[in-house]
Amino acid sequence: MILSVVNHKGGTGKTTTVVNLAAALVACNKKVLVIDFDPQGNLSYSIGIDANVLGISEVLQGTKQVEEVIIQKEGIDIVASNMHLSDIELTLQSVDNRVFVLKNTLQNIQSGYDFVLIDCPPSRSLLTINALAASDSVISTVLLDVLSMQGLNQINKTIVDVTQHFNSSLRFLGVVAVQYDSRKKIAQEVLNFMKESFDLPLFETYIRNNVKVCEAPSHGKSVLKYAPTSNGAVDYLNLAKELFTRI
Ligand SMILES: Nc1ncnc2c1ncn2[C@@H]1O[C@H](COP(=O)(O)OP(=O)(O)OP(=O)(O)O)[C@@H](O)[C@H]1O
Ligand SMILES: [Mg+2]
Repeated sequence: MILSVVNHKGGTGKTTTVVNLAAALVACNKKVLVIDFDPQGNLSYSIGIDANVLGISEVLQGTKQVEEVIIQKEGIDIVASNMHLSDIELTLQSVDNRVFVLKNTLQNIQSGYDFVLIDCPPSRSLLTINALAASDSVISTVLLDVLSMQGLNQINKTIVDVTQHFNSSLRFLGVVAVQYDSRKKIAQEVLNFMKESFDLPLFETYIRNNVKVCEAPSHGKSVLKYAPTSNGAVDYLNLAKELFTRI
């Protein structure tokens, strides 16, 4: 199953969720491939991969096969990203079938995995559309504030557009609330609103604000490896289990 994690808004916990959900799925004995599909390369950095390695840019360019650029970390197969991905995106604009380049790339290898997770950039760019066109399912991560809620409408519209034009089998599995802080009144209110009167599917598992989650990337590790008993590790394991019930 190919699953994209999207939000057009920046800093909503997409990369953190892809890394730690991947680690949680591996802990549940699943075979997982992660694609860092953001030119920022945050995911690659977070799991301890050098910024200059070859990765998805070279695969899209056609100079490397996916199998040649896979790097293993914590039992996760990872295709890294680098800054060239922005240039590749520009050149893709003039290619026929530009929306399906990633889908075609993954066709031959996806059957070797239980899950392929794609970390998307914070924009409605051609990269994000490629990720959604290639995916079976999509989840969105949100912070519990009012502006993030507003951003969800935009995401929903993108998903509807992609479903109509490029990928009729795309399923919106749900929204995952991240960085939940019980001491913040607004977080409580937004979470209650999402539970009670929200018209998008919401994961029951939410990810608590946790300093270990924040620290783990600077050690090049998932939070499950860095701090296995932390709230962050527990929450991401629960998210993986809930994911199984939703697919
Ligand atoms: N549960 C959490 N507890 C504490 N900090 C968190 C948590 N989740 C994410 N963060 C922190 O929030 C910041 C933004 O997270 P992240 O990079 O995953 O967002 P993003 O949506 O991928 O950003 P971008 O849109 O730039 O790609 C990071 O510094 C990360 O460590
Ligand atoms: Mg990111």
